[in-house]
Amino acid sequence: MEQTTAQPETECPVCGGSGWKMVPEEREGRRLEKAVRCDCFKRAQGARLLAQARIPKRYDHCELSNFESEGTFRALASARLAAYRFVEDYPVESAGLLLIGPIGVGKTHLAVGIMKELMLHKGSQCLFYDYRELLKEIQNSYNSSVQTTEMQVLQPIFDAEVLVLDELGAVKPTEWVWDTVSHILNTRYNDKRTTIITTNYKDLPPGGADAERSNNYSPASRAAREETLGDRIGERMRSRLHEMCRIVKMEGDDFRMKYKSANYHQ
Ligand SMILES: Nc1ncnc2c1ncn2[C@@H]1O[C@H](COP(=O)(O)OP(=O)(O)O)[C@@H](O)[C@H]1O
Ligand SMILES: [Mg+2]
Ligand SMILES: [Zn+2]
Repeated sequence: MEQTTAQPETECPVCGGSGWKMVPEEREGRRLEKAVRCDCFKRAQGARLLAQARIPKRYDHCELSNFESEGTFRALASARLAAYRFVEDYPVESAGLLLIGPIGVGKTHLAVGIMKELMLHKGSQCLFYDYRELLKEIQNSYNSSVQTTEMQVLQPIFDAEVLVLDELGAVKPTEWVWDTVSHILNTRYNDKRTTIITTNYKDLPPGGADAERSNNYSPASRAAREETLGDRIGERMRSRLHEMCRIVKMEGDDFRMKYKSANYHQ
């Protein structure tokens, strides 16, 4: 995305509306000045990127700075640290993150917090998509009465500098679901793009959770056992994810459950 389309504030006392400011720099022992983007430019750019990122309203409050990791939340300290590291190292380090954990542990909060930091401080273009929503939009594009084509839905997903794909695996797997998720992940992998993924499913191969417990996994027990990421997106895409993302396991009590009885309203 063109960074120059962000409008600097014309009344800015620092840059007078140019969007650039001079800062001192020392090079080879000589004191020089160099031009850098003015803060007003970064603010305007951040606001524009935020408006285009499609973050659902219910996650408006999510920031890295208000993600708790002390007291009852101490199990989340390493996940919070991984998020801050990721932001700091991006884009030099461009591998994504795979946030894994049970419902309510704060996966989406952390992913949205990262997006905001990248947009505001790194000028990165980010896009949020719920996995179910995305697959529904693609499926909907096949309807002949709908004007949008499949490619029109997919192109922004392919092109996003940083994509957050929330709740990976939350759609019942079919051949079509597997083909579609492969198309998306392989395209972003080939283009070396950064993808941040959240999932409630354990990072294990098909039949993995069951195989972990006992050695005699049988297809008959398939319905009863806990499904894994391998079951939901296929083993090939699960191992592709390992090449694209660093894995961050999140554990802890369900924040929503805990606050439901108190003053927390979802
Ligand atoms: N460590 C945390 N600090 C602050 N708020 C949290 C934390 N974990 C979860 N929440 C809040 O709890 C709610 C559920 O978190 P969410 O990120 O939606 O969970 P998940 O995506 O893992 O299901 C959100 O409103 C979120 O802001
Ligand atoms: Mg979530
Ligand atoms: Zn300025």
